[in-house]
Amino acid sequence: MIKHCLFPAAGYGTRFLPATKSMPKEMMPIVNKPLIEYGVDEAIQAGMSSMAVVTGRGKSSLMDHFDKNYELEHQIQGTNKEPLLDDIRSLIDSAQYTFIRQREMKGLGHAILTGKELVGDNPFAVVLADDLCISEQEGVLAQMAALYRQFRCSIVAVEEVPESETHKYGVIAGEHLSDDLIRITDMVEKPEQGTAPSNLAIIGRYILTPDIFDILQDTKPGKGGEIQITDALLEQAKSGCVIAYKFKGKRFDCGSVEGYIEATNYCYQNVYLKGSKVKIDRSSTKKV
Ligand code: UTP
Repeated sequence: MIKHCLFPAAGYGTRFLPATKSMPKEMMPIVNKPLIEYGVDEAIQAGMSSMAVVTGRGKSSLMDHFDKNYELEHQIQGTNKEPLLDDIRSLIDSAQYTFIRQREMKGLGHAILTGKELVGDNPFAVVLADDLCISEQEGVLAQMAALYRQFRCSIVAVEEVPESETHKYGVIAGEHLSDDLIRITDMVEKPEQGTAPSNLAIIGRYILTPDIFDILQDTKPGKGGEIQITDALLEQAKSGCVIAYKFKGKRFDCGSVEGYIEATNYCYQNVYLKGSKVKIDRSSTKKV
């Protein structure tokens, strides 16, 4: 059973400037919920109960979001708006939240290493909240947790992307175990156009075995001068125990403006309108 889920959320989010100048990218809303809330929901659905967030300077709203806001709660208590807090209250009650600061933004691999103090010597999930994953049945992390129980290896989620897009991702290659599972033998971070080993791109969902921390400790800065998780995973894959999984569901790159708009439109139609348990008149604050 995987208990811990790590959320690296210390990046600068430069593709979304100026919105991200003083607001964490992970707090940007898709309809009425911040991105991180979708990720936490997915982790809880996968049975995880310890959410470990790697934050940076100017990201304290991430901490506040998973805490009580007594003044607001007192103000809307008993009104028809109170049900709007149901989802976030349920997430807060269903898990423990811990936070650690990455002081220097040295890359995703370094952010994951910073989270070691929070997850300890345990297998753990990693969610990059700006990759929003929506699945009609089981969530993507739940699908991956089931695979971890089967293989006891690191599992990375991949999706097919057009060749013209491979330079934006970590790209894998390996031995096909089935239609949707590949034992990884090669992996390149953001390959130059025309040099990618396949069209299978790593997206922001991982399950990692804790030996990754020792590997990350020795991983030198790679592409862009950053410590890359892709480089550490390639080292881990030498033992034959890193598996890529073509997940079932849709993924939106909400770190890009186009992906963010696409996700907003999709979630408004398919999640918000269909899923709203409570119909609320948002125009009134009168006590009922
Ligand atoms: P990105 O590559 O999306 O970088 O990081 P970014 O800074 O968030 O966004 P852009 O590219 O400048 O627009 C992937 C994930 O890794 C985290 C980010 O917060 C994001 O979730 N990250 C990245 C860290 O936590 N620390 C880092 O040093 C780098």
